[in-house]
Amino acid sequence: MTRKPDFHVPATEDFDSPHALFADLRGRCPVAWSNDLGGFWAVTSHADAKRVLEDWRLFTTTVQNVVPPVATTQRRPPLHLDPPDNIPYRNAILRFLTPQRLEAWHPRIATMVARFLDPWVAKGGGDICADFSFLLPIALLAEFFNLPPDDAERIRMVGSEFNMALQRQDLDTLRAKSDELYDIARSLIEDRVAHPRDPDTDPTASLLAVRVDGQPLARDLVLGALRQFLLVGIIAPTTFIGSMAVHLARHPEDHAQLTANPDLVPDATEELLRLYTPYRGFARTAREDTELGGRQIKAGEALAVVFTSANRDAAIFADPDRFRLDRPARDLLTFGRGPHMCPGAPLARLLLQEVLRQLTTRTARLTLTAEVEVTRWPEYGPLRAVFNATPR
Ligand code: HEM
Repeated sequence: MTRKPDFHVPATEDFDSPHALFADLRGRCPVAWSNDLGGFWAVTSHADAKRVLEDWRLFTTTVQNVVPPVATTQRRPPLHLDPPDNIPYRNAILRFLTPQRLEAWHPRIATMVARFLDPWVAKGGGDICADFSFLLPIALLAEFFNLPPDDAERIRMVGSEFNMALQRQDLDTLRAKSDELYDIARSLIEDRVAHPRDPDTDPTASLLAVRVDGQPLARDLVLGALRQFLLVGIIAPTTFIGSMAVHLARHPEDHAQLTANPDLVPDATEELLRLYTPYRGFARTAREDTELGGRQIKAGEALAVVFTSANRDAAIFADPDRFRLDRPARDLLTFGRGPHMCPGAPLARLLLQEVLRQLTTRTARLTLTAEVEVTRWPEYGPLRAVFNATPR
């Protein structure tokens, strides 16, 4: 539907410009319509974002769940299903993310971070996205899903091309790359069917072992779920690690403070996850006409839950644009809320804390050597960020 727009999605952006736009919208029009990117409401305040995420009966993920919309005929659980249908898919994965399981991941993650970071520091830096932050989450995902090294390499190539096509809105390439990711997921399922594994140690086997009313999950939905997992855990850490590095380069005093006090790293990671929240375009569709933030939303209209904005809402976070370690409990929306809240959040936090710890203990200083190139909706953060890294 076409309405009179409250804002336009800028044709070009830089690392800071989205925050300026969202601050303006929060001030004058916290639920704002744009005719760009297929037409959508940007929900920018913390309270409205929470309401949309929690009221899943009114705001569904089954129609359009991302802005801009990605044309697809296939459902990818758990994100594309409403409760209770999404729950078995989540549970099949959540069993691998208990505190005890995560404890065991800690040393493996530390080794993985060092494997990719040490060469980057040794060569004096470079593009942190291409050389480090894109490689690391794929390596983690490959270990998490017990993938053979060839598949991990293929996901790295295809995931990168998929992300670039998404940024350029090159729909033909996007579909082709999505199909390739489906092929990888399909061969993983075929392998686990032919060579069964223990559902307690293998996430794909766990999905195949789920029974609802005595029946296995539909095979095409297991395929969709695996395809979802193969990508969803890669993009956010990639851009967010870039944002962390940009922050350290711009604020050497914060870098020095973390180098001197590594025990501040968990709090610092939370504060950076608030300031540089990597998703702004996860979406819902209104099932019925409703009112939100004083605006009349029509049934069928898309709403982007702008996490990147909600986490800088001054109604919740005093002095919202400043990095502060002395905040009381942070009511972060970085990982969403409600029935689709990110199941990978504990693993992501472990990974990101380790990255921040090693970045600040292995480098004395990071200096940006070029303008940061940034992602477009639905993400926020660097696509390319080139640094000089001074080793410690
Ligand atoms: C910085 C890292 C990450 C961020 C910021 C992030 C953020 C999010 C957010 C905001 C959602 C909710 C989307 C919505 O409500 O529409 C989500 C969902 C999801 N995330 Fe993450 N994520 C991260 C890493 C990961 C990782 C490492 C994994 C895998 C292990 C993962 C797996 C998922 C899955 C499967 C969903 C869909 C859940 C559902 O629909 O029930 N994420 N993530």
